Amino acid sequence: MEQEKQEVYKEFKEYIIPPSWKDRVWDIEDFKKFHEETVKDKESVEKWWVKWAEQLPWFRKWSRVLDDSNPPFYRWFVGGEINLAYLCTDWQIEKGRKNKLAIIWEGEPVNEAGEPKEVRKFTYYDLYRISNRIASALRDRLGVRKGEIVTLYLPMIPELPFYMLALQRIGAKHSIVYSGFSAVALADRVEAAGSRIIVTADGLYRRGRIIRLKEVVDEAIKILEERGHRVEKVIVVKRTDRTDVPFNEARDIWHTDFLAGIPENVRVDAIPLPSDDFSYILYTSGTTGAPKGSQESIGGYAVGLYATMNMIFDVKDDDIYWCTADIGWVTGHSYIVYGPLMTGLTSVMYEGAPDYPGPDRWWSIIERYGVTIFYTTPTAIRMLMKFPDELVKKHDLSTVRIAHSVGEPINPEAFRWLYSNVCRNDAVCSSTWWMTETGHILTGHLPGLGKIYPLKPGTNGYTLPGVKADVIDEDGNSCPPGVRGYFVIKTPWPGMLMTLYKDPQRYVDIYWKRWEGCFWTGDYAVKDQDGYFWILGRADDVIKVAGHRIGTAEVESAMIMHPAVAESACVGKPDEVKGEIPMIFTVLKHGYNASPELEQELKMHLRKTIGPLVASDAIIVFINAVPKTRSGKIMRRLLRAVVAGKPLGDITTLEDETAVKEVAEAYNMIKEAVEKRR
Ligand code: WT7
Repeated sequence: MEQEKQEVYKEFKEYIIPPSWKDRVWDIEDFKKFHEETVKDKESVEKWWVKWAEQLPWFRKWSRVLDDSNPPFYRWFVGGEINLAYLCTDWQIEKGRKNKLAIIWEGEPVNEAGEPKEVRKFTYYDLYRISNRIASALRDRLGVRKGEIVTLYLPMIPELPFYMLALQRIGAKHSIVYSGFSAVALADRVEAAGSRIIVTADGLYRRGRIIRLKEVVDEAIKILEERGHRVEKVIVVKRTDRTDVPFNEARDIWHTDFLAGIPENVRVDAIPLPSDDFSYILYTSGTTGAPKGSQESIGGYAVGLYATMNMIFDVKDDDIYWCTADIGWVTGHSYIVYGPLMTGLTSVMYEGAPDYPGPDRWWSIIERYGVTIFYTTPTAIRMLMKFPDELVKKHDLSTVRIAHSVGEPINPEAFRWLYSNVCRNDAVCSSTWWMTETGHILTGHLPGLGKIYPLKPGTNGYTLPGVKADVIDEDGNSCPPGVRGYFVIKTPWPGMLMTLYKDPQRYVDIYWKRWEGCFWTGDYAVKDQDGYFWILGRADDVIKVAGHRIGTAEVESAMIMHPAVAESACVGKPDEVKGEIPMIFTVLKHGYNASPELEQELKMHLRKTIGPLVASDAIIVFINAVPKTRSGKIMRRLLRAVVAGKPLGDITTLEDETAVKEVAEAYNMIKEAVEKRR
């Protein structure tokens, strides 16, 4: 950490002001005063958010802004009624955007000239009509009712937002499972959500290949049957031209057949839903094996998204907006679907890999549609910046006026590259921190307020007005500037998770127990002399591989399901492009010998149990015993330090209850194993 901190330190005083903003810059002290006013007390916080809530069309106005009578189960805009699908379609049509493009979708495959073979465009009216038809079919053909959770296991195709909106219309909920998850992971999530319906696709295109999806669903259903969970219906969207899709006539139905005969002009009223009902659950990784179903509200979520679309992305009616995330993760839920649509934007949605057919695919997309607002990830930037800058320069990116990143810390070098190459040294560029549980962005630059505070390479900036955060030590005391501590949020905010689905106690224990009245994010951070936050990475047993959140405990429990594995310990190994990659220390059972073949087999096993997103980057290191402290806990900090290449001297104090000699032995054992693996 020492080294990391120093790297950050030198950026503390590097102020950048995009030239076109030079007359609109906050004096930092003034901004702090402005911010302070919005978080002074409960009334100020409420006042700030009401300003945004009033801009939305409520079926019924709230009677209470923030109900904090039962902490930490905070409820926003209580008594109010609203509907996300209504905001994203009906309301846009009322506002005159009926024929405005809502989504420009580009498929991955290209023709010989390198141009996209398929581009599908949908106006707000198209979106409205399609989601009405789907809502009607779900309700009348499958009996989907208010409150039911449907699992969506879909790639980046327009049908995913269509189904999301259809479910919201009728007050049903979604649980979206990222299409890179395996059958086992899918089965776990379907079972936990209690879904009887899955919507999927035959496959998807990735780097020119077809990846099969339907087979994964079939396998998940087999697993679920063994557990006594029945999936009644699988709706399958046809995406690829494969002809060998396994199909169970009694259970499966093609999306087009599902809609056949439903009139184009069918109308299903978007039903008024209580603000504090929930809109979706999204399973995310934590420090134990079982994924947590983050349960998102409706009204507070809508207000948080509407406000951040305006403040962070400064949306205007003629913007072309592109968020490069996958809808399977929260970024896509909030900033590909609900946020951009409720603000009436035209947004680009791209199916495939950033480097297919060449590493300038993304830049050609920005040029093709004239993207003005770009929202992306540090991993992608680090990957693309390795190629010659000419690949960027040959495309006209002059339309870009805002480019934010998200998902993991952005290193100053990647920030500078993005700022100079994509932003031409003149666009607002920042790292917006938030997480699945927060629902929407909580830190970042705020061009939408009309004035910005100076940018700095790698910082997360201030929290939003109305949101108070801090960096604290073990005892809950505020850390002075420059000292690393734990990042906590000290005021409730509208898009906050309501609870963990069916597990309120765990919600309390994980997020609210450690420090009284503070939401524990799980991240390390430092504050600088100007009060900017710098998030440094996870302080718990969660790792971020290419921005994807993975619980090391999930990896470990998957590993020991294999007959050869006695024990395993997974830690993140720093990686230049992906941020971190999983390094899995593995102890084999008696009678098994370490070999490259066994390693391959274990990686296949990981692919089946968790999915390619862990398996493709994992490094398996065989060891004789997992180093433990005297009380039997895995010496995780030691493992992390060794894989990060720290010398023994820096880490003897890490596992404080264990003798220095034992730590040194463990250190040498691990170091040797890691070196042998190279
Ligand atoms: C974790 C949450 C919500 C967006 C997608 C990730 C890390 C997220 C940043 C950032 C540094 C970041 C944190 C956080 N993170 N954004 N701008 N700078 N770190 O959502 O999968 O729930 O992961 O991502 O470690 O805790 P998620």
